Amino acid sequence: MNHYRAATSWPSDDALDKAARRLLNGRLVAFPTETVYGLGADAENARAVGRVFDLKHRPRKHPLIVHLAPGADPGYWSSLVSPQAKLLMDVFWPGPLTLILRRADHIPAAVSGGQDTIGLRCPSHPVAQALLRRFAALKPSGQGGVAAPSANRFGHVSPTTAAHVYDEFPEVAGGVRLMVLDGGASVVGIESTILDVSDPAAAPVLLRPGHIGREQLEAVLGVPIAGPQAGSPQVSGSLKAHYATRTPLELVDTADLPARIAALSPAAKAGARYILLGFEPGAELIDSHIAFAGSPTKPLAYARALYGLLRDLDEAKHDGILIEHPPRTPEWQGVNDRLSRAAAAFTGGIPAAPRC
Ligand code: TXA
Ligand code: MG
Repeated sequence: MNHYRAATSWPSDDALDKAARRLLNGRLVAFPTETVYGLGADAENARAVGRVFDLKHRPRKHPLIVHLAPGADPGYWSSLVSPQAKLLMDVFWPGPLTLILRRADHIPAAVSGGQDTIGLRCPSHPVAQALLRRFAALKPSGQGGVAAPSANRFGHVSPTTAAHVYDEFPEVAGGVRLMVLDGGASVVGIESTILDVSDPAAAPVLLRPGHIGREQLEAVLGVPIAGPQAGSPQVSGSLKAHYATRTPLELVDTADLPARIAALSPAAKAGARYILLGFEPGAELIDSHIAFAGSPTKPLAYARALYGLLRDLDEAKHDGILIEHPPRTPEWQGVNDRLSRAAAAFTGGIPAAPRC
């Protein structure tokens, strides 16, 4: 999936060399991937990994994904790369699939939040790959992995452009403490699918839906995949409330839109600023004083645009954002998952009065 338009100014070889050396020195580098931008550190340097947790304000028990260059040896990172895991790597790597495997003993536990597993992913973005290759080449073992969560503050909307990363970390980005590599807008737009294949005796477990769907994984493996279970390792992206805007946000079924708009319309007429992100403006919007923004109608385009749209709507300082629920079909699974977690941060829905 290398559909990258030549970005106006992708990082030069010098910038990539500098970024790789920074990682080797225990410093942080934000970099583009095809899903979202990552906040990277040397996965084998526990202090550098600690800096990622600190900058994000992320609980240290939430494990990070280790990013590998194409051709890297997963056996360096994991003590058990099963035939099933190998098959998935052959089919889906490089790409937006993270595999949870058993962590090799010599890999510091900090990167895994203390768990005995490790998340591995090989991104398809050319800038990420160039950085990962250079970084691995600087390591005496020839194996270098970059631990990188999404480059946003814990619980907030993930970044899909370099500008989003600067917005998230204005106090350090562009300065000495964080270098940001610009690789254009992420083409997938939502985070990788996460599949736990750490126990070859058990069914694989889907921990986070994404661009690569459950059906695709089942078709390749030829076995059913389980959903997340109680007691599964902590996945912050699977917390009920995540990817949150600062503006109250509510997800509404198409059939319920007329009633919801009617309920909010008096407040809108009294000055509250609401906006509906929907597929088509319906007649119920006429005279409602509620603004309308058209959303992409196809799941891939929707996913690609989603976090940028949420950020733009958030910045416009509305009193509430209504989002028309996309269809509940498999190809919308990743988008629906992110939308429902974004809405879960606002249990009471959007308030029917202007914000003071
Ligand atoms: O697309 C992505 O996966 C992006 C880009 C940068 O690669 N990264 C990303 O990282 O979304 P983050 O930290 O925002 O989400 C990674 C998720 C977390 O929810 C974490 O708990 C889970 O992966 N994870 C990492 N290692 C794990 C492990 N050993 N066991 C269970 N979950 C793990
Ligand atoms: Mg994240």
